[in-house]
Amino acid sequence: MRIAVFASGSGSNFAAILQAIREDWLTDTEVALLVCDKPGAHVIDRADAYGVPTFVFQPKQYADKAEFEKEILARLREAGVELIVLAGYMRLIGETLLQAYGGRIINIHPSLLPSFAGKDAIGQAFRYGVKITGITVHFVDEGMDTGPIIAQCALPIHEDDTEQSLAERIHEEEHILLPQVIQAIVNRTVRIESRKVTII
Ligand code: GRF
Repeated sequence: MRIAVFASGSGSNFAAILQAIREDWLTDTEVALLVCDKPGAHVIDRADAYGVPTFVFQPKQYADKAEFEKEILARLREAGVELIVLAGYMRLIGETLLQAYGGRIINIHPSLLPSFAGKDAIGQAFRYGVKITGITVHFVDEGMDTGPIIAQCALPIHEDDTEQSLAERIHEEEHILLPQVIQAIVNRTVRIESRKVTII
């Protein structure tokens, strides 16, 4: 399956997907395109290092979201992309992409949704004082981190954790869970009935 990864920042999840493919525990998958809305983001260097084609754009140079999403859509189609993986893409997906790729867009979020949606989820959970947090991979709908949940992984917050040490553990787990979910989708074992997602 040809996939596109959308990212805005460091791209450690992007690299984890590429590494999983290289190490052969994510199979039958090719990262056909990186889409990045932040020229200069580190994820672009990572894509170059892995030889992944990129589409980098400046949202401000377009009239509105529909305009840049039309351009993204053309690139996705050109690259034969079947699945979009949002991994640190700091924007809501608009109607243009949702209509074309509805049910074929997933996102990774660093909390146990529906708790701590939106930005800085790790900091939100840490400051709130919850004892357990985690990671969620979900289908994307028009809301902010609201789509049907595919998989979650819980992590305890230890008394001696700092926000930094918690973030490190969360990222380690993300780098395992996201390739696993992609594999399940590639294997076509993911079923969705209203909000309930099962992996058969
Ligand atoms: C991850 O924590 C992901 O869950 C969130 O954004 C972060 C991206 O990190 N959506 P990276 O760019 O993959 O390192």
